[in-house]
Amino acid sequence: MLTTSLPGGTWTLGGLTVTRFGYGAMQLAGPRVMGPPADRDGALAVLRTAVELGITHIDTSAAYGPQVTNQLIREALHPYPDSLHIVTKVGANRDPQGGWPLARDPQSLRRSVHENLETLGLDVLDLVNLRLGDAAGPLPGSLAEAFETLADLQRQGLIRHLGVSNATPGQVAEAQAIAPIVCVQNMYNLAHRRDDELIDALAGQGVAYVPFFPLGGFSPLQSSVLSTVAARLEAAPMSVALAWLLRRSPNILLIPGTSSAAHLRENIAGAALSLSEDDLSELDTIGR
Ligand SMILES: NC(=O)c1ccc[n+]([C@@H]2O[C@H](COP(=O)([O-])OP(=O)(O)OC[C@H]3O[C@@H](n4cnc5c(N)ncnc54)[C@H](OP(=O)(O)O)[C@@H]3O)[C@@H](O)[C@H]2O)c1
Repeated sequence: MLTTSLPGGTWTLGGLTVTRFGYGAMQLAGPRVMGPPADRDGALAVLRTAVELGITHIDTSAAYGPQVTNQLIREALHPYPDSLHIVTKVGANRDPQGGWPLARDPQSLRRSVHENLETLGLDVLDLVNLRLGDAAGPLPGSLAEAFETLADLQRQGLIRHLGVSNATPGQVAEAQAIAPIVCVQNMYNLAHRRDDELIDALAGQGVAYVPFFPLGGFSPLQSSVLSTVAARLEAAPMSVALAWLLRRSPNILLIPGTSSAAHLRENIAGAALSLSEDDLSELDTIGR
């Protein structure tokens, strides 16, 4: 049984216990998530710091770099501690211009799962998310062929658990009719609350919700209400944003991204911030 002093405690993804405070590795690649990082040693240090601080959930994708974050994770952390669970996603490739062309046909998905196994140095992937939609967000449409492909790879023993990302509620339900999912990874933060109902429904089913862009992503969260609450609490706005997510629902798992070990420490300390009912009601006005 994993015990942790990290804020939020733990959550069980299928049979895998993870800290609710995790780490998203996308920011470790070069500009626009292409190529190697400017500070390679710094990137390796962030990953090692994450694990030293007790984080057991790292989010990545073979598309980051491409291959860059997976290779950094392997170099920094392999052989992996038993407690560490690396979550990856498939469904998009990269083109030389830095675009994210879709790759959801069965052949591309199989290739991507094997690529992730190879670059991470694993025999089995703990959790694979099927990424849907496009850069602008979720799009309607059937995921059946793609998700059945992943379910087949799961039956073959290459994947332990499945999830979906950038998905509509309808696609979440469609996936669940094909195979159990343990998480949904969608965009969500204080200012972007399209998934409020979905989060509550998933909490009722014991399925995790993993917000990407928890701090606003490439455009950091900016809100006068957030700044006011943060100033009152003598905390950084990022801390308030993370503490709010942990309070929002017990099935929310954090994967904030950073290329800085100092920011990682700051975010862990900040997510432990205690928010009063008044703070929560005020913060609630931002995204409603
Ligand atoms: N499923 C999907 O489609 C999808 C899409 C996007 C992302 N993701 C996943 O979600 C994870 C999180 O998203 P994200 O990293 O893009 O965005 P994010 O966590 O919302 O924000 C990351 C940004 O916040 C900055 N930051 C972090 N801590 C800070 C602090 N204490 N003070 C000031 N700035 C701070 C980072 O800059 P510094 O590097 O300077 O700290 C970085 O620019 C990714 O790493 C990735 O694993 C998934």
